[in-house]
Amino acid sequence: MAVYLGIDIGTSGTKTLAIREDGQILASATEEYPLYSPKPGWSEQDPADWWKASVRSVQRVLKAGKIKAADVKGIGLSGQMHGSVFLDKSGKVIRNALLWNDQRTAEECQQIEQLAGGRRALIDMVANPALTGFTAPKVLWLRNREPKNFDKTVKVLLPKDYVRYRMTGEFATEVSDASGTLLLDVVHRCWSAPLLGKLQLDSSLLPVVHESEDVSGRLTESVAREMGLLPGTPVVGGGGDQAASAIGNGIVRRGVVSATMGTSGVVFAHSDDVQVDPDGRLHTFCHAVRGKWHVMGCVLSAGGSLQWFRNQLCAPEIAQAKKQKVDPYELITAQADAAPAGSEGLFFLPYLTGERTPHADPHARACWIGLSLRHNKGHMARAVMEGATYAMRDTLEIIRSMSIPVQEIRLSGGGARSAFWRQLQADIYGKAVCTINAEEGPAYGVALLAAAGTGAYKNVVEACRATISVVSKTPNKPTQTKFYNQAYPLYQKLYRSLKDDFASIQRLIQN
Ligand code: XUL
Repeated sequence: MAVYLGIDIGTSGTKTLAIREDGQILASATEEYPLYSPKPGWSEQDPADWWKASVRSVQRVLKAGKIKAADVKGIGLSGQMHGSVFLDKSGKVIRNALLWNDQRTAEECQQIEQLAGGRRALIDMVANPALTGFTAPKVLWLRNREPKNFDKTVKVLLPKDYVRYRMTGEFATEVSDASGTLLLDVVHRCWSAPLLGKLQLDSSLLPVVHESEDVSGRLTESVAREMGLLPGTPVVGGGGDQAASAIGNGIVRRGVVSATMGTSGVVFAHSDDVQVDPDGRLHTFCHAVRGKWHVMGCVLSAGGSLQWFRNQLCAPEIAQAKKQKVDPYELITAQADAAPAGSEGLFFLPYLTGERTPHADPHARACWIGLSLRHNKGHMARAVMEGATYAMRDTLEIIRSMSIPVQEIRLSGGGARSAFWRQLQADIYGKAVCTINAEEGPAYGVALLAAAGTGAYKNVVEACRATISVVSKTPNKPTQTKFYNQAYPLYQKLYRSLKDDFASIQRLIQN
């Protein structure tokens, strides 16, 4: 029996999944680790935690699935994108990694635009504008603010590529994750020598770039022993978590779009050629499908907004859920369902960690607007879910405006597991939404890439065709959609009205 492993280095934990060649899941295991926020807007993790979690989750999966080492024919890696692991000349980590949701680099983003010769020139070189979450601003931050650490740095790796380095000894990445560094020539799928030159960064800092299906290295003797696998087991390129999740959702042809409501929320569309949003609101990245691209928008706190609401305001629901042995979200969602569409005039802007798409504003803040005496916790919960969904619609609207077809919307993440949120998404997007048979996200996608890359399928598109199918469809309710079509422009206007005030609040707390 041939088995393929997918390892996803997520923000809350690392998940390893084992599948058979036909896509059937054999076992999965997740190991969690902490996130550090040493200052407001900072977000860091210790790469040693990712490594420990990877080893441990592989060991657990092999045991749980009773999988023989010799049956594991390939491994795929996925992970949170954009994070920066700084390594010294002996391959040691220099400081904690800065993560995708870290907002400390606003000045470095301006510096990059300036050095590149302006925003337009930057987009021409790397298809994207400078955003605080991306990797290049983090590298400049290290050079500007921690020069001693920068001087020691000989390699900068993305989170999953650090794990690859520990597994195989290779400094390697692949095109989908490399796109989110802001240093990749996304059109030609190689590092951008012109931009590296302008930023005065040496290309030796960066790893080799592969296509996502390609074998990037093989397990070393000592790691194989530690994990319980065979030395020489191939490790394919894999993908950044969004491209990997898209593979796991079968988003490998034009017209099929995914909406993933996790901590962050991502709307992702496949494209056969490079499509760049001239205003730089969407990301244009290489897809994990050979020679293809995608566009996507990222809402930083989508499901994360509801998680915050639960943690900060729902102690009674959490206690009640414990007694009833149900998920607290079930009780919160039931209250939200009792409130009418539009939450009786209550809006929520979900900018708890600033925002990336469409505003690229690290200083944007979350707020409820429109509270009255009539409002209860159910209205507030519904407004949070509506706000997160309007934020996802922002991306969908930009995709539509770029003439990229949206024929089918596939949901995944926590927002796909709740019947209430599925209906809300259909109503706010104004279109039926589907779910598919595979619910395992990025780890599943990279296990499929491993199967394709080691010869079980002709390519990953064939792998998706053989393993992924639509299992449910939720049509939108026309009366609700009509209402949300009226409310959505008001939601959009609220950010525009408050934008300058958010900047003033930032100045207030900085001084
Ligand atoms: C994508 C992004 C996040 C992270 C964390 O651009 O920043 O989705 O990859 O999951």
